[in-house]
Amino acid sequence: MATTSKIAVLTSGGDAPGMNAAIRAVVRSACYYGYEVVGVCEGLAGLVSGNFMEMSSRSVSNIIQKGGTILKSSRSDEFRTEEGRAKAARNLHNSGVEGLVVIGGNGTFRGCRAFTEEHGFPTIGIPGTIDNDLAGTDYTLGYDTAVNTALQAVDQIRDTADSHNRLFFIEVMGRDAGFIALNVGLGGGAEGILIPETDQDFNHAVENLKAGFQREKTSSIIIVAEGDEEGGAFDIVKRMKPYIPQFEYRVSILGHIQRGGRPLAMDRVLGSRMGHGAVYGLLEGRNKQMVGVINHATTFTDFSECLAYPKAIDDSLVKLAEMLSS
Ligand code: F6P
Repeated sequence: MATTSKIAVLTSGGDAPGMNAAIRAVVRSACYYGYEVVGVCEGLAGLVSGNFMEMSSRSVSNIIQKGGTILKSSRSDEFRTEEGRAKAARNLHNSGVEGLVVIGGNGTFRGCRAFTEEHGFPTIGIPGTIDNDLAGTDYTLGYDTAVNTALQAVDQIRDTADSHNRLFFIEVMGRDAGFIALNVGLGGGAEGILIPETDQDFNHAVENLKAGFQREKTSSIIIVAEGDEEGGAFDIVKRMKPYIPQFEYRVSILGHIQRGGRPLAMDRVLGSRMGHGAVYGLLEGRNKQMVGVINHATTFTDFSECLAYPKAIDDSLVKLAEMLSS
């Protein structure tokens, strides 16, 4: 896209801490290289309706530390249709935009892959989702902050669990993936971690809790990924009670608290690197690719590859968590 003079940026899907840092980096990098920038409000829905605003270096002052996204976000049904994507392409052409940066998760990239295939529009993705479920990057934007938010909640729940000799099931986000649960469980010293990627975790948790009870352990914490194949935390409690009736059970669903809040350093730095990388990628003539950071280096991976290969959970971390939880 060496001829590009104007690029657009948007945030789409579930918001994630660090999205503002990425928007800032996109806008300021574009200005640095002499390009104009348009912000698309309300995600892919705003692309379809033409909800655009001009942005300058000053539009992104004082946002790097803020949670959420100043551009707002949405999940757009219209962009899933060919007509919706054609409207989006028309809006971009009419505004003189020649390159697009989308910050979002796998649903966003699926839509954008179809969009670029149909309209040949240069598009670069930035992985923005707390779930960390995208291949092509070690970490997605927002994941680290979300894990730390959940971890703080787990620490606090452990105080009350211990005071009352209770068994707590804490459900964390992760629609189809257990990255948040695994790291929160490992970091919080949980007695069990239930994630969709493993199928022996229920039995392991039962055995571990029984053994703990025999050793007169009075309280325990089990972390459940919302996407676990056994169901949510309430379903798992129903299933587990008959095996270990001795405990008093409580459930805590952490929910959207994990998506908000000030981004931690890692997400601000990641957002800054990825925002610059996305603009640079467009200038190099890249298209249909996602910028990532792998082993500390900035990388580009085709949308198709990111979408075809689900990111694998590190089995050694699962085993480590089991070993340390006894
Ligand atoms: O994709 C991120 C995520 O936070 C998932 O972990 C969760 O399942 C989903 O979004 C919730 O989405 P919504 O806010 O639309 O209910």
